[in-house]
Amino acid sequence: MKLKSKDLLGLEELTSEEISLILAIAQSMKEIFSKKKQVPPSLKGKLIINLFYEPSTRTRTSFEIAGKRLGADIINFDFSASSMSKGETFKDTVLNLHAMKPDIIVIRHSVSGAPQFVANNISASVINAGDGAHEHPTQALLDLFTIKETFGRIERLRVAIIGDISHSRVARSNIWGLTKLGALVKIAGPPTLIPAQIEKMGVEVFYDVDAAIKDVDVIICLRIQTERQNQNLLPSLKEYSRFFGINQERLGKAKPRAMVMHPGPINRGVEITSDVADGKKSLTLKQVANGLAVRMALFYLLAGENQKNVAY
Ligand code: CP
Repeated sequence: MKLKSKDLLGLEELTSEEISLILAIAQSMKEIFSKKKQVPPSLKGKLIINLFYEPSTRTRTSFEIAGKRLGADIINFDFSASSMSKGETFKDTVLNLHAMKPDIIVIRHSVSGAPQFVANNISASVINAGDGAHEHPTQALLDLFTIKETFGRIERLRVAIIGDISHSRVARSNIWGLTKLGALVKIAGPPTLIPAQIEKMGVEVFYDVDAAIKDVDVIICLRIQTERQNQNLLPSLKEYSRFFGINQERLGKAKPRAMVMHPGPINRGVEITSDVADGKKSLTLKQVANGLAVRMALFYLLAGENQKNVAY
């Protein structure tokens, strides 16, 4: 089986079958890994360009390692040292990089729709590594993988997404993915950080975090994105932490089996306390580890050779 599109721009465009396919192949990748076996180099001879216009620790590194594990040549484009500083346009930059015949371009950009623009202008596959407040599909895929691995299923699980929904591409991708796979999704946060008409995405909206989390299996905390906040939407981070931060006391009100997730980077003491982030109910580092398997699966599906060699 293959994905219908040459690109992965968002989970909005994927069917539930396509999401399940990516998760199944990621599972195979993880199993091969855990047995310390060599993953077939199905991307040998392929070229991947990581084009990150925003900072990243997890996503960029994970894509780079995933490409290397599959035998691809992968380069990290440093936009701050590029000819964009001499006035070259974004489109010209992309077309010139594409002239070097990459098979996949992975792009992160502060402008929503930038990956779609790139995909419309080149024949290589494009993977969205986060665009503005639009989508961060690979983060949601690794979150779905981690939830399935932890609970054995996604269908009918109750998941609360807490925090700055308005600015969060992670929230949007997770809402698409979780609802397509049958989870019941609640969102909670200050009214100033919840977009109007978000209910139309099939979620239940709460302004009281304790009410939102009382019967959930999974709590996804979102980062307060100080770099995208210029409208004084929060009185203070201290007040946010008091009313919406996940601490041990608040976690105690959720289901006994509830687990906590966070995409990172974490603002410790703001959206989550350190004892919760580092505690037994935290899945944060499992999320990062699973990101590698998910990104390998995507590379394999979009550009891999000899797909029949990997069982899934
Ligand atoms: N979760 C996430 O996107 O982290 P980075 O910004 O470090 O890539």
